[in-house]
Amino acid sequence: MRIGVFDSGIGGLTVLRELKARLGGHDLLYLGDTARIPYGTRSPQTVISYSLRVASYLVEQGIDALVIACNTATTHALPDLEAACEPLGIPVFGVVHPGVQAALQVHEEGQLALLGTEGTVLGGAYHRALAEAAPDQELIAVPCPLFVPLVEEGWLEGVVPTEVARRYLEPLQGRVDTAILGCTHYPLLREVIASVLPGVHLVDSARATAEAVLEALGPGEGTGSLRFMVTDGPERFADVGERFLGERPDPVEWVDVGQPTAAFSRPLPA
Ligand code: DGL
Repeated sequence: MRIGVFDSGIGGLTVLRELKARLGGHDLLYLGDTARIPYGTRSPQTVISYSLRVASYLVEQGIDALVIACNTATTHALPDLEAACEPLGIPVFGVVHPGVQAALQVHEEGQLALLGTEGTVLGGAYHRALAEAAPDQELIAVPCPLFVPLVEEGWLEGVVPTEVARRYLEPLQGRVDTAILGCTHYPLLREVIASVLPGVHLVDSARATAEAVLEALGPGEGTGSLRFMVTDGPERFADVGERFLGERPDPVEWVDVGQPTAAFSRPLPA
């Protein structure tokens, strides 16, 4: 199968890394919408329209399944992407439900925490998924917007990230036993987050998502290939992407996703 994977930019490579480790017999096409990153601070309507445009392009590349490797895009755009892709026989996988399931598996007692972008926290998709799976479970959601630029700068340890983490996360100390890393970038700050929340289970939705896709599609029987595409200059993507993927993404193609096809178009809100 040919599996399309997209994110607002580089962060989805954490999901791709987990997919590659488990579904290496499929062809994986990664598209980072680097011309329009960040999604995390934008309105739901804008994230939906960006996501549909990127998905439309991937569908034109002949994908058989779509993975939304971005928490913000999953939060806002999953229903629209399903509505556009499923009539074409293309299943859509997001990162929210797998993250919630993985959290419930390790959670012992008390409240759960969600760390994410502003869009992910305000969009409420994690709250809805948790309400479905465990109606009485409380969730404290904390937006951590500075984590994304810190990770992109490669500031993964030391005084600055630790102080930022302390400012965001101190209110959770002693109140939660499990925290969902609900943003593609946060797994790279795992050690810093763990130093502020010692003993708290940190759930990585990238891994949980790859497990869910593996369960649905199997590991694949082909030799598998990787293709990297971006909507802005490939150089920075390749340099920064290495931290996320564990190897340098290479080669990286610069693509123009153009206008979406009719099934992937939505009018702007009035
Ligand atoms: N990929 C985004 C997410 O997981 C983080 C970066 C952004 O704001 O676009 O929410």
